[in-house]
Amino acid sequence: MSQMSEPPRRRLFFALWPDRVLGDEIWDLTRDCVRESGGRPVTRENLHLTLAFLGNVDAATLPQLRAAAAELACSGFEFTLDEVSLWLRSRALVLQPTVFPGALTELVESIWDAMAPFSLSHGPGTFRPHVTLARKAGPAPGDAPGVALTWRAREFCLVSSITDPGGARYEPLARYHLYQASKMADRQ
Ligand code: 2AM
Repeated sequence: MSQMSEPPRRRLFFALWPDRVLGDEIWDLTRDCVRESGGRPVTRENLHLTLAFLGNVDAATLPQLRAAAAELACSGFEFTLDEVSLWLRSRALVLQPTVFPGALTELVESIWDAMAPFSLSHGPGTFRPHVTLARKAGPAPGDAPGVALTWRAREFCLVSSITDPGGARYEPLARYHLYQASKMADRQ
């Protein structure tokens, strides 16, 4: 008897990815507190800030999903990662901005609006921008005095999460430009 096989699925999310310099700075400035947290460090190449986690998506919809993201016209923005914090419930040690611009929230909302045709679950909770530094961390992170890293967001990406025996591996599938304010004005 033949069995119906499940359609192939991809575990996807949209993210800001740090450029090499910023990624190195995040890594270097947080090593002490990651070590003190006793948590399992996120690898250097996996450091990122998730904008929208889509979950497992039917791979056949990927071309339409990419096209919908390419239609977005959102502005670039800057913010400062300046707080290392332990999220007690998830036991994640994170680096986060204490304040962030409305343009970041607008980008996240625009992504979810663009994803509406794909009937994806938004998930609970409000958006809290963060870079996860370590998992299973605790009980208290060490201080990271003087961390103040400016992130100049000029693009965002669609990423596929692949579970390898050694842990998660992230494969960027597409990059999308964010407009500079002057270029946005040109479009109007
Ligand atoms: P985290 O770093 O806070 O764990 C890839 O797994 C990315 O998607 C990670 O940045 C992870 O966030 C995020 N992610 C995984 N599962 C999620 C979920 N159920 N809801 C929101 N974000 C999730």
